[in-house]
Amino acid sequence: MTRILVAGIGLIGRRHLAAVVQSREARLVGVIDPDPGVATMGAPRFDDIDAVDVQADAIILATPSNLHAAHAAQAAARGWHMLIEKPVAGTLAEADQIIAAAEKGGVKTLIGHHRRHHASVAALRRLIGAGAIGRPVVANCLWAMRKPDVYFETLWRQGAGGSPLMINLVHEIDLLRFVLGEVSEVSAMGGARLRGAGRVESGALTLGFANGAVATITFADTAPSPWGFEAATGENPNIASTGQDMLFIAGTKGAISFPSLNLWQGAADWSQAPQKRRVENPGQTDALAAQLAHFVDVAEGRQEPLIDAADGRATLDVVLRAEQAIGQGARRHATT
Ligand SMILES: NC(=O)c1ccc[n+]([C@@H]2O[C@H](COP(=O)([O-])OP(=O)(O)OC[C@H]3O[C@@H](n4cnc5c(N)ncnc54)[C@H](O)[C@@H]3O)[C@@H](O)[C@H]2O)c1
Repeated sequence: MTRILVAGIGLIGRRHLAAVVQSREARLVGVIDPDPGVATMGAPRFDDIDAVDVQADAIILATPSNLHAAHAAQAAARGWHMLIEKPVAGTLAEADQIIAAAEKGGVKTLIGHHRRHHASVAALRRLIGAGAIGRPVVANCLWAMRKPDVYFETLWRQGAGGSPLMINLVHEIDLLRFVLGEVSEVSAMGGARLRGAGRVESGALTLGFANGAVATITFADTAPSPWGFEAATGENPNIASTGQDMLFIAGTKGAISFPSLNLWQGAADWSQAPQKRRVENPGQTDALAAQLAHFVDVAEGRQEPLIDAADGRATLDVVLRAEQAIGQGARRHATT
């Protein structure tokens, strides 16, 4: 049994806690959170990582993103392998500190881009890698939902920190990187700021990939819609599920949408209608449980991390470039 600590028992930390308790391969040995009221599932609670006085093999860092670097340095010095929530850090410099700390401590890092652990995402990647749509040319990804007002009552989400770019779009960007490869160009435009809270709420990103493909991601946290990864897959208990596709990718020999994995092939040009092919869809996965099982394998030296801190840094880099591009286009930020 891998002995695991969970630090930061907030929105996502509570779900990690439940996953660890339910796991057959992991044992919860402590939680770290300065709030004495957090759930502990019977494990000892510590105010700070330095106060931990139990033996552990690994830690899940689900603390606010701007604390990841400091917490990773403390954890790596204790020799604990780390599952660090996404984004890997708040800045590229902090991501570099995490990479250096892990190297110095001789520990592995796994970044919490849990979408990579969905069987349907793995199937999409496999199909595209096997040439099912030929050479990928264009992709269109949608994420539009309305976050409840209470979500923004948490202090760190009230200002710019509550932008959906770092919190949510980091997932869409990582998904596209996982499926289409490295991003070489980024442009972005922000939409109206309807809540008037001085942060990004909606917009459109255009990504250019090293393989020549281009993708758009349109996003909003002010527009309830059936389209978004969580609604599509039902992966998040806090977000209602609709089962609608939210990612559409077209290539030189076909097209595919996700998560249905509806694959269209057989049209030589626009005079022919593509035909829908049967593709086995593995269905939905408990991605946090799958990620935890992988983390245990990483901590035990049986697998290399599916996404380590250096890989997570590359995703963060794209997010930061998109944020910068939106910041430069400030003229569009009408508040009404
Ligand atoms: N993978 C996902 O889908 C997903 C979803 C939500 C959040 N996240 C990420 O998880 C991280 C946490 O986000 P959240 O929404 O759960 O935040 P949150 O504000 O709900 O919870 C953060 C928790 O960390 C605790 N904390 C603060 N300082 C601490 C310290 N020094 N040591 C230990 N605990 C401390 C707080 O008391 C709180 O309980 C962020 O990096 C966020 O981007 C990932």
